[in-house]
Amino acid sequence: MRREVAITEARRLIAGGPIVLVTTCWRGNHNVMPAAYVMPLSFEPPLIGLAVHPSRHTHDMITYGEEFALNIPGKRLLHHCQYLGSVSGLQLNKFELTRLPTFKARRISALLIEGCVAYIECGLEDSFRVGDHTLFIGKVVAAQAEDDAFRETWLLEDDDAKPLHYLGLNYYALLGNRLEARVPKAEEVEADIEAGVAIPGGEEAQEEREREEREREQRAQDER
Ligand SMILES: Cc1cc2nc3c(=O)[nH]c(=O)nc-3n(C[C@H](O)[C@H](O)[C@H](O)COP(=O)(O)O)c2cc1C
Repeated sequence: MRREVAITEARRLIAGGPIVLVTTCWRGNHNVMPAAYVMPLSFEPPLIGLAVHPSRHTHDMITYGEEFALNIPGKRLLHHCQYLGSVSGLQLNKFELTRLPTFKARRISALLIEGCVAYIECGLEDSFRVGDHTLFIGKVVAAQAEDDAFRETWLLEDDDAKPLHYLGLNYYALLGNRLEARVPKAEEVEADIEAGVAIPGGEEAQEEREREEREREQRAQDER
């Protein structure tokens, strides 16, 4: 059974990347807002896309300040994420209000938020209007991560060191375990192509899939 998902909700099906707290600075003023619409765009130069609605104060801060930082929070900042996304820097100073401790970034003027698991500093490279949001293209100029959180990839060992993910509404999540996939050797791929069949993960994975299939059929029969 598959249920229909409204096209306006389809975006939540691909939600799951870490949420970021976007910090900005312009003329000595600082602001912070959570953002879920953030994605890598290019290896070289290293570019990141961030979609911001023009109604956000952050939109003007990035446009005029020409830089932004992505602070990646863990679960300790869960309630802060929701709160910082419920009020606008146009009305009040969110840093003063929440007393979030900050520290200096390496390459840009925006502040970094203490207690996050990783940080990316970006200079503004370009911006495009995409639907009702502006896609800001940031060029990464510095990045740092907590040792117990990230080494080449997210480690996902300790819940407190995992990045927070946003599901939509006021729901967030942590990823479970890091799974290591078997990397196919070039000659295996060639042999698969020749045979016209590929069994990723080898016979073990194939047996596992067949077992699952048998169990599904059994359950379907039991339900009838
Ligand atoms: C978890 C979460 C994710 C959000 N993601 C985005 C986003 O990607 N882009 C955006 O424009 N607004 C997003 N928002 C809404 C802004 O964070 C919110 O409107 C915020 O109050 C704007 O603050 P500002 O006016 O100080 O910039 C998000 C809100 C929450 C709670």
